[in-house]
Amino acid sequence: QINEAEVAEFSVPTYACQRRTTLENHNAVLTDALSLLAEHAELSDEDGRGVAFRRAAAVLKALPKPVTSVKQLRGLPCLGDHSLRIIKDILENRESSEVQSTKQSERFKALKVLTGIFGVGAKTADRWIRDGINNLQQLQDSGQTLNRAQQAGLQHYDHLSQPVTKQEADAIGEIVEEAVASVLPGARITLIGGFRRGKLTGHDVDFLITHPEEGREVGLMPKVVSWLESKGFLLYQKTTRNSYLESKDGPARPASNMDRFERCFSIFKLPEEEKPAAKHPETLTGNVEQSLPLTSSHVSAEGEALKRWRAVRVDLVVSPISQFAFALLGWTGSKLFERELRRWAGHEKAMSLSSHALYDNKQVETHFVQTPSVKKKRVSKKTKTCSSMMT
Ligand code: GTP
Ligand code: MN
Ligand code: MN
Repeated sequence: QINEAEVAEFSVPTYACQRRTTLENHNAVLTDALSLLAEHAELSDEDGRGVAFRRAAAVLKALPKPVTSVKQLRGLPCLGDHSLRIIKDILENRESSEVQSTKQSERFKALKVLTGIFGVGAKTADRWIRDGINNLQQLQDSGQTLNRAQQAGLQHYDHLSQPVTKQEADAIGEIVEEAVASVLPGARITLIGGFRRGKLTGHDVDFLITHPEEGREVGLMPKVVSWLESKGFLLYQKTTRNSYLESKDGPARPASNMDRFERCFSIFKLPEEEKPAAKHPETLTGNVEQSLPLTSSHVSAEGEALKRWRAVRVDLVVSPISQFAFALLGWTGSKLFERELRRWAGHEKAMSLSSHALYDNKQVETHFVQTPSVKKKRVSKKTKTCSSMMT
């Protein structure tokens, strides 16, 4: 005899940030399918749908055992009609026709390839596809104007589409550490992003830089970048300065969920350990160079063998020590975790969390401030109450 209580066998908290993160995923087939639909939605500039699929996938990932029937999912949060339909399809027919047709669609393939170029987002890819560009060769032949980031992205496409290993992340960490120590003794770097969460590979490496004395970090990024450039470690970099204190009345909340720290999006030239070519005929770069014409080569036009290296995406962020805890939390990710943490703070605790601070919404005093876009806009100035709690 099965009663309702026995059927509703899983219990999962509403917000992803309230759940324990597990390394074991007992429902990978289902979460892979939902993640693919999330990716498709994001690449189609439908972020709302993307988040819905990401939330559904995260709930299934939190379950302690494989799901065998949708009945088991009754009462679980974040599972909308669409996600449930996909899950049911897979449980009953082993696959979902929507997932299969999405995966095989030419448009999805083209979106993945084009947005795989550093500097190309969903909107640009969509415009190119409407112009008949579906792959890298067509992009090169099209004569489309590329910005500096996209040129670098295309040039180093093969390297940048290979996952970065933890070893490579650590090697870059040593270089960044040396750069930071040379230009500002006492400054500290922390590995953030996916590697801080224990991931074994990533699409880039992220570092947060600070100095224990407030204010000493000002102007640090250009010096670090110059040092790296002078040593030949950078293939590309774009630095944007800190804009947190730019608004007239001091810290205001940024318009989007982008924060206002000084940051550098870069492509590193990471020297690779020398490997005897004969013993390793199928090294990563050797393979890619043969299969893709658009590679950044290790070998000059004359065929002269040069030192081996590989291109790696690296993000650097500088925060003053007073905001370090929030920056660390905000840049550790995952993106869904951060989003859920902020939603939970807002809805359940009446607080607003950013990578700069945590504010108590109950102590809000509304007034006018000058925004960077020089428009008069109503912005709430909130009392910072919780930095001690967080640090
Ligand atoms: P992989 O790099 O793919 O391994 O995953 P990741 O989790 O490291 O992703 P990513 O490098 O894109 O971002 C790292 C963290 O920084 C995530 O938590 C993001 O939410 C956060 N992040 C990235 N860009 C920004 C930004 O512009 N502002 C803020 N506040 N956070 C950001
Ligand atoms: Mn990352
Ligand atoms: Mn990053």
